[in-house]
Amino acid sequence: MSPKHFLNYEGFSKESLTSIINRGLELKSLKQLPKSLENKSLGLIFEKPSTRTRVSFEIGIQKLGGNSIFLSSSDLQMSRGEPISDTAKVLSSMLDAVVIRTANHELLEIFSQNSSIPVINGLSNLYHPCQILADLMTFKEFNGNLNISKVAWIGDSNNVCNSYIEAAKLFDFNLSIYCPNGYEPNSEVMRSQNNNVVLSKTRESALREAKVVTTDVWTSMHSENQTQEKSNKFEGYTVDPGCMELAHKEAIFLHCLPAHRGEEVSIDMLEHNSSKVWYQAENRLHVQQALLENLLLD
Ligand code: CP
Ligand code: NVA
Repeated sequence: MSPKHFLNYEGFSKESLTSIINRGLELKSLKQLPKSLENKSLGLIFEKPSTRTRVSFEIGIQKLGGNSIFLSSSDLQMSRGEPISDTAKVLSSMLDAVVIRTANHELLEIFSQNSSIPVINGLSNLYHPCQILADLMTFKEFNGNLNISKVAWIGDSNNVCNSYIEAAKLFDFNLSIYCPNGYEPNSEVMRSQNNNVVLSKTRESALREAKVVTTDVWTSMHSENQTQEKSNKFEGYTVDPGCMELAHKEAIFLHCLPAHRGEEVSIDMLEHNSSKVWYQAENRLHVQQALLENLLLD
């Protein structure tokens, strides 16, 4: 049987992701965690820096009785030209699952096509599916349900935004994206969605009635070299407490982090009373434990 991969939400239903989120909440509430992943080995191949994704996966599996090995891409023979397919076959015989962080989504696809163990996208230039699982879990933690109705995305339409686009279709919420001209979402990702994603012309219309207000850095890891011209284009796209006044009265603010205060968020935004960013970051641990159980045990 071919393994279940988690490169984006394709192939996952609302029900299966909801059960992962519910299990994440359950694991968070437990005083004593089960040894559900005893003797399971997780490999992490990271071509890019990470704080949350790396630590949450490594500690997450260890707490469930498993173990992990971190491999920066320069540690692997892949960096000297060993084919991705050969690496995938060899690691499949030694590990139980692998998390990959790469600037090249195609690498994830090639790896997974040659892998007999689950491959998890730990962030690519195209998607960050683990992040939005934690965002949805955080919404449920504070609202008791997943009836999000509307999310406002302010800023660069990047990999995290693309995963919101996929989530909007699955969970049937409206997503309003307010971004500068030239920073609209990837057209292929947009083609795959229903009619519940709109590009808003004004900040006000994007924020109106939104139950989640969210953003991310203006320059992602795969597109570094922020120019002054780019910064100028993003003027007016900073999320600040004033934005929360324009949203639903119980709206929460989320940010995947790391944040650049003074750019996509004002200096005071992360500590604003609507902000749940520290819960959101912690929830990466719990929801990814649930994801690992789902991919490895089901
Ligand atoms: N949000 C997120 O993925 O953080 P890291 O880059 O620190 O893993
Ligand atoms: N969009 C950001 C997310 C970091 C977690 C990046 O790709 O750098």
